[in-house]
Amino acid sequence: MPVETTRPLAVVTGATAGIGKEFCDQLAARGYDLLVVARDANRLEAVRRDIEGRYGVAADVFPADLTLDDDVSRLVGLVAGSFRIELLINNAGFGSRGNLADASPKQQEDMLRLHTMAPMRLTQAVLPVLLQNGRGGIINVSSVASFLYSAGNVNYCATKAYLTNFTEGLAAELKGTGIRVQALCPGFTRSEFHQRMEVDVRKLPSWMWLSATQVVGASLRSLDRGGRVVCVPGLRYKLIVTLLRHVPRGLIGGMSRLRAPAM
Ligand SMILES: NC(=O)c1ccc[n+]([C@@H]2O[C@H](COP(=O)([O-])OP(=O)(O)OC[C@H]3O[C@@H](n4cnc5c(N)ncnc54)[C@H](OP(=O)(O)O)[C@@H]3O)[C@@H](O)[C@H]2O)c1
Repeated sequence: MPVETTRPLAVVTGATAGIGKEFCDQLAARGYDLLVVARDANRLEAVRRDIEGRYGVAADVFPADLTLDDDVSRLVGLVAGSFRIELLINNAGFGSRGNLADASPKQQEDMLRLHTMAPMRLTQAVLPVLLQNGRGGIINVSSVASFLYSAGNVNYCATKAYLTNFTEGLAAELKGTGIRVQALCPGFTRSEFHQRMEVDVRKLPSWMWLSATQVVGASLRSLDRGGRVVCVPGLRYKLIVTLLRHVPRGLIGGMSRLRAPAM
């Protein structure tokens, strides 16, 4: 845990790349201390040095594999005891490709643990502190995929649907408490995500791409003003999600046979 200061503390999972790293930047610029979580300890240390050097806030690193119960339990123990926590960003995630029948059972189980169990346990751990302080927020990084189902991306869509639905229910439960929760649902965003999946996304048109800066900026602005629980950055994706929420579910099955990469 960072040295005790009077600054609010934000916990960011998946903090070493893409959207998570951008959350670290924008939150540090707003004066938050940070607890940064990911598996690669060297990259976490680089994030810590960069954040502390550029923004003059305190950051601490917590190397953890959030697919592992023991690592999640260690983090739960740490965050449950911190009264400075104001923001939890459940962001760590990954995509996979291919049919379930051919996929590695361990990888699919890891996805369920990382996208559902870890955010749920971390959320439960910080809630007592946030409720006691009567302020703060939780952002669960879901996806436009949470409104879809798709051949070749069965568990990615299903786990993100859990995360969006979980967040909407939690928001209803926390109404009037002063705590804000958000399901952040980006479309295709430039990061390491697709490279890690080893998919070729060069054919996707440029209008489909968002930057992590856009995504995180939209998320934090919406949280500031007490905007919608489901935050979809970018007008084009707002329109797509509105459409997806209204078309018959059967039509989505037809589209899913196009086998677009996960987002
Ligand atoms: N990029 C997109 O198009 C897109 C669109 C919609 C939603 N999203 C969602 O946005 C979130 C962030 O994705 P991104 O695009 O920023 O991906 P990214 O650039 O690949 O970053 C993923 C981050 O998660 C960490 N991570 C991965 N597995 C982990 C594990 N088992 N335990 C702890 N940390 C882990 C990685 O660090 P280590 O490898 O060091 O652990 C890294 O810091 C994900 O939840 C993703 O589903 C992405």
